[in-house]
Amino acid sequence: MVAYCWDSTLETGHEIIDTQHKQLFEAINKLLDTCRVRKGSEELTKNLDFLNTYTIKHFFDEEKIQQKYNYPDYPNHKEYHDTFKARVKDLTHRLIWSGPTEGLIKEVHSSIGDWLVSHIKIQDFKLAQYIKSKDVVS
Ligand SMILES: [Fe+2]
Repeated sequence: MVAYCWDSTLETGHEIIDTQHKQLFEAINKLLDTCRVRKGSEELTKNLDFLNTYTIKHFFDEEKIQQKYNYPDYPNHKEYHDTFKARVKDLTHRLIWSGPTEGLIKEVHSSIGDWLVSHIKIQDFKLAQYIKSKDVVS
């Protein structure tokens, strides 16, 4: 069963952002699969490494877009990203340390997957809307 399904309600309409979001969803689903079947720690470490690296890449790219468009909410948006990056890193350490316990799997859902869904629907939608309005003007 796929934990986080991509659908049109998650589409911001910005091609790069949407493509990277899909990739993040895939990474989270893979991580949850690995946790559920309790595959070896090597697989878990590989999934976590990818999630951390890709999160950093995606946020970097998204922040570059925000700067390019002089997005007024950039400082707040960046703070949300920084907090999330730190949370993923912290959860990574705990998952590697204690293995995928029920409690930690719940945290992957609430602090990573559910957070991403609501961040996309609120913050990234707001950003995409702003970019669209700028693109029409220019
Ligand atoms: Fe974002």
